[in-house]
Amino acid sequence: MHHRRHLTALAALATLALSTFAGSASAQEKIKVGFMLPYTGTYAALGVAIENGFRQYIDEQGGKLAGKTVEYVKVDDESDPAKAADNANKLVKRDNVDVMVGTVHSGVVMAMAKVAKDNNTLLIIPNAGANVVTGPLCAPNIFRSSFSNWQPGFAMGKVAADKKYKTAVTLTWKYAAGDESVGGFKEGFEAGGGKVVKELTLPFPNVEFQALLTEIASIKPDVVYTFFAGGGAVKLVKDFAAAGLKDKIALVGPGFLTDGTLEAQGKDAEGLLTTLHYADDLTNKKDQAFTLQYAKTYKLQPDVYAVQGYDAAQMLAAGVNAVKGDLKNRDGLVKGIEAAKIDSPRGAFTLSKAHNPVQDIYLRKVVGKENKNQGVAVQALADPARGCKM
Ligand code: PHB
Repeated sequence: MHHRRHLTALAALATLALSTFAGSASAQEKIKVGFMLPYTGTYAALGVAIENGFRQYIDEQGGKLAGKTVEYVKVDDESDPAKAADNANKLVKRDNVDVMVGTVHSGVVMAMAKVAKDNNTLLIIPNAGANVVTGPLCAPNIFRSSFSNWQPGFAMGKVAADKKYKTAVTLTWKYAAGDESVGGFKEGFEAGGGKVVKELTLPFPNVEFQALLTEIASIKPDVVYTFFAGGGAVKLVKDFAAAGLKDKIALVGPGFLTDGTLEAQGKDAEGLLTTLHYADDLTNKKDQAFTLQYAKTYKLQPDVYAVQGYDAAQMLAAGVNAVKGDLKNRDGLVKGIEAAKIDSPRGAFTLSKAHNPVQDIYLRKVVGKENKNQGVAVQALADPARGCKM
């Protein structure tokens, strides 16, 4: 009898010790973030800015979310859709990441979305605007901190129509981002009475613009709407000016045309009008603190990509905090992100049912080395999320 009670007490002690041990082990668990971003090629600077912004937010939290240390693994996706499934599978199956953060290129993100769905891995997209991932491919485990390709395009279509431009030529890389950006522009422009008279394209990441610029010079539209980003945007703006078109035909686009590129574009970018969910001279408190810290840490002015990386981390934090670090509570985590109001440097935003930011789109004008806010072109713009059943 005595003996048995002793044993029971021992067993209870052992259980206690075990659970205490398990408790401290889980408190030491980490959150593994897998960056899948371009670190080489025409979008390399965009990938770096996204990672910088993401790390900045996590560092501001002392490197932890809900008590768990955030650790990182990363893969260079080279903006190559052909390698995308393999790269995403590496992060999910070999590295066992808790969340994938990526990417820039719309063609690459589509493969990531499929891998995320197949494995029920959380995916936060810090740039790629592919309409389908918050459209027909929308899913509880897929979120975006950036924009849909439709959003800034639609806003610029409206601006161009309001300016009474009648004819437009579009010029872009031939892939989802370019096609969908032009689609948004066309919708806004033609609803306002304009007409897209010619759609010109070249393969990604080709930058041989000469023949296309010659064709534009002969068509003489009121406005050219163009989607390029990173190194390609630098080249297009310089070539457009060198071809003698800058003072003859208005050149507009989504803000990627002049974001993170102004040092390299110099005076050839002066005066360009673009639409985007960020500008360089916003006056909200969050942007001022963000910009100051970013400049201090990275010795660089932040751009829209850095903001999107920062906000991807804020979204992850909203989910992780909602479940107090219990990543197995996926429903709670998803609800936490869905309910969040993100205090972004762009201005606060919420997420649509399809998990895409509902946000103001600014009209910006290049003045010197800044994209200066000219006012809100479209307020609280939500992507139509056509085809999303969620
Ligand atoms: C895209 O491929 O979705 C994309 C790439 C670069 C940008 C914007 C969109 O700046």
